[in-house]
Amino acid sequence: MKCTCIIYWNVSSRVWSIALFRPSNKGELMTPDNSKGRYPPSDEYRRTAFLKSADEYKKIYAESMKDPVKYWEKQADLIDWYSKGWKDAFTWNKKTNEFTWFKGGKLNVSYNCLDRHVRNGLKNTAAIIFQGEEDNDVRIYTYGHLLSEVERFANVLKKRGVGKGDRVAVYLPMIPELPITLLACARIGAIHSVVFAGFSSEAIYNRVADCSAKVMVTSDGSYRAGKKIDMKGKVNEVLEKETAVESVIVVRRTGADVVMERGRDFWWHDEMVKVPAKCEPEVMDAEDPLFLLYTSGTTGKPKGMLHTNGGYLVGAYSSYRYVFNYNPGQVYWCTADIGWITGHTYILYGPLSFGATTLMFEGVPSYPENDRFWQVAEKWGVDIFYTAPTALRMIRKTGDEWIKKHDLSSLKMLASVGEPIDADVWKWYHSVIGGGRCPISDTWWQTETGSIMIAPMTGAFDLKPGSAMKPLPGIEAGVFKEDKTPCGTGESGNLYLNRPFPSLARTIWNDHAKFVETYWSAFPGHYLTGDGARVDEDGDFWLLGRVDDVISVAGHRIGAAEIEAALISHPAVAEAAVVPVPDEIKGEAIYTFVTLKDGFTDSEELKKALVNHVRNVVGPIATPKTIQITGGLPKTRSGKIVRRILRKIAGGSRSDELGDTTTLIDPAVIDALIKGRN
Ligand code: WT7
Repeated sequence: MKCTCIIYWNVSSRVWSIALFRPSNKGELMTPDNSKGRYPPSDEYRRTAFLKSADEYKKIYAESMKDPVKYWEKQADLIDWYSKGWKDAFTWNKKTNEFTWFKGGKLNVSYNCLDRHVRNGLKNTAAIIFQGEEDNDVRIYTYGHLLSEVERFANVLKKRGVGKGDRVAVYLPMIPELPITLLACARIGAIHSVVFAGFSSEAIYNRVADCSAKVMVTSDGSYRAGKKIDMKGKVNEVLEKETAVESVIVVRRTGADVVMERGRDFWWHDEMVKVPAKCEPEVMDAEDPLFLLYTSGTTGKPKGMLHTNGGYLVGAYSSYRYVFNYNPGQVYWCTADIGWITGHTYILYGPLSFGATTLMFEGVPSYPENDRFWQVAEKWGVDIFYTAPTALRMIRKTGDEWIKKHDLSSLKMLASVGEPIDADVWKWYHSVIGGGRCPISDTWWQTETGSIMIAPMTGAFDLKPGSAMKPLPGIEAGVFKEDKTPCGTGESGNLYLNRPFPSLARTIWNDHAKFVETYWSAFPGHYLTGDGARVDEDGDFWLLGRVDDVISVAGHRIGAAEIEAALISHPAVAEAAVVPVPDEIKGEAIYTFVTLKDGFTDSEELKKALVNHVRNVVGPIATPKTIQITGGLPKTRSGKIVRRILRKIAGGSRSDELGDTTTLIDPAVIDALIKGRN
């Protein structure tokens, strides 16, 4: 592609500027190489990509493996530092599993996401396009305007006594005040902890209490599929209990009547006009914490993963550059919620540190009608689109005519995250949504890794539907057997990342012992991902799902133990075991086995009450699909519930398909469980 480049003196900002004029994309189709089932990118796309050939990738990857620290120091050069005062870019105490990246280096994340772009000529370029659930509810924040809002809100937080290292819990819907809050925290060095808006009061309480948040930011309510949902009422319930929260800032969103407590609760719009407009960014150490984000594990208690300023930002920026091939002037849309890590890294920190225009959408794919995503993509001329397989499966089910109603020719690149995308859905995504032009990057990563680890770099690779393909430069991944010997070609095993990299979480808040035990004890020196994988003859990775008791509902991770704990807290429940079952849309759904206490009997009302109880305690995302009341659960002699067997029963297996049942203390429970299956 030929570009015209003009260098000129920008009179208003008094800097030399560059303007790049690109001809519009002609829409060259990708031609699948049918002999190998591969999809090479079109030449037209390749020319706009950051990495343009497999050889280029191989060279950079090989260099990064020869000296990973040197490689990451080069990536760190891409962001702005007040000083790169580190002695050793990387330190790693293998005994304590403590590691640091760029310690002694000084930076500010909000400066990197805002000020530096404002200074470099992007002041009036859109940073965030907010598209509300209602089509005419739109707000566009240029980099300059976003910076002013962030500065003001940073001052609001300061006025409430928030300083460096204090925790701010954020319980907000997908509205611009959410990224403004996070960037304001980053500006003053406060640690944000976002609680997904779909969680209920007990789940909020656990997260707020665990990190002793000083301030909470919430809204009166939120919109979902045309309905008003309460938010502030839930926060009030949380604060009836003892917490460290001193003040609550409340955004007015739905205008619902809410109970405000004098001296504790403040309206966002009242506070914003009472503070100074300017707020200098705090100088932060690379290793100072930037945020906590709680994620589910194999115990009942969610883990507060701690991410740092320096390493996380380097990972977010560098991965955004490699994977999405963002070109100036494009509109990038990630459909995730900022309540999850995908939203943190790829709605907010990745694109904004890169100077991209990021679209933030409040709504859902099916409201007001099933073509909402495509109507939004057409309206804003979206170039790059990042979503989850569960959304794709749901959209595919409603019929292609919803997609065909819209002109999606602006799309150039597609991506997927959250769970494996199977080859069939991949091909549909490619042809129906991508019009046969757009490469797809299947991106594998986790809350813990902070940024994308394994994904095709789409200008360089001939794509393989269903495979996440290769690690990003600087990342070494390996698949090992239980005995820690490497798996051979095509053999499935446990996926490990072979050493710490900058964006990896440093610890679990308040529980370093658990961090060590969960991630580093299985294979010392290697980070255990909890996922199964295999590597094919070309060295490409295929992800096989979780190998632990973590359920992936619509791409969201929910610990079986968390749901079990919720069930057991119900007065009728003696014991509970929760396993995943395959689900056409959500990937996995929640199947629960429940033993009742004496005096309670099985009934539809009781089952309904138990479902509601889980929804209230954990949140609607943890809604069980099935409750099976049982007389007993399969256990080993030491009393451990054998979930392997329960998974098979829930999935519909016959008694001769359950594998070894001889270690059970009471094998007779099996028949009863199979008979009682719903
Ligand atoms: C788990 C992490 C960070 C993304 C959002 C979820 C699964 C994620 C893929 C993919 C196969 C995937 C894994 C992982 N996962 N992306 N492209 N292919 N599996 O973040 O809640 O921390 O969950 O999601 O099982 O361990 P998370």
